[in-house]
Amino acid sequence: MKRTIILTIASILLFTATAWAASNCPQPRKTKSAPSNIAAMDHTAKADAAKGKKLYEKGAKPLACKMCHGESGDGMGKLGKALKPNPRNFTCSATMKDVSAGQMFYIIKNGSASTGMVAHGKTLKDNEIWDVVKYIRQTWVH
Ligand code: HEC
Repeated sequence: MKRTIILTIASILLFTATAWAASNCPQPRKTKSAPSNIAAMDHTAKADAAKGKKLYEKGAKPLACKMCHGESGDGMGKLGKALKPNPRNFTCSATMKDVSAGQMFYIIKNGSASTGMVAHGKTLKDNEIWDVVKYIRQTWVH
């Protein structure tokens, strides 16, 4: 009897976890496309992923990316969970396959209207934005 209850609880938990993971990927995407010439740009070859990691985790202002996008890039940071739409889950290749390096650069610089994604173009230099783009793509986007 006790065993049946434990098994039932375990399968409910597993089901919930699977359902949650599925709803987080593929993600609906509210962000608009960058102008096509910028979306086609890619300056990550010379960028510095180690510097990008520092900015992602705590250096970036007004807010470190990690606060929303999560330390493991899954979009589940402390502030991110409460946002609608949820921050991008960089580990979700079904969604990220449509998000180029140049698209990322443009949105990090300018923000994404009517979402919680804030513009970082006043506080990060272009080369620092490319560093962060490289870190994210190298770590999570495959
Ligand atoms: C306050 C929370 C918050 C912070 C801080 C934040 N983001 Fe976002 N980000 C979001 C949300 C919300 C979206 C929009 C998701 C959508 O399009 O549905 C988003 C979208 C994105 C996208 C996806 C663009 C696309 O075209 O799909 C990228 C790339 C991104 N953020 C990178 C960053 C980086 C890098 C930082 C740090 C410099 C950062 N974000 C900081 C909340 C945040």
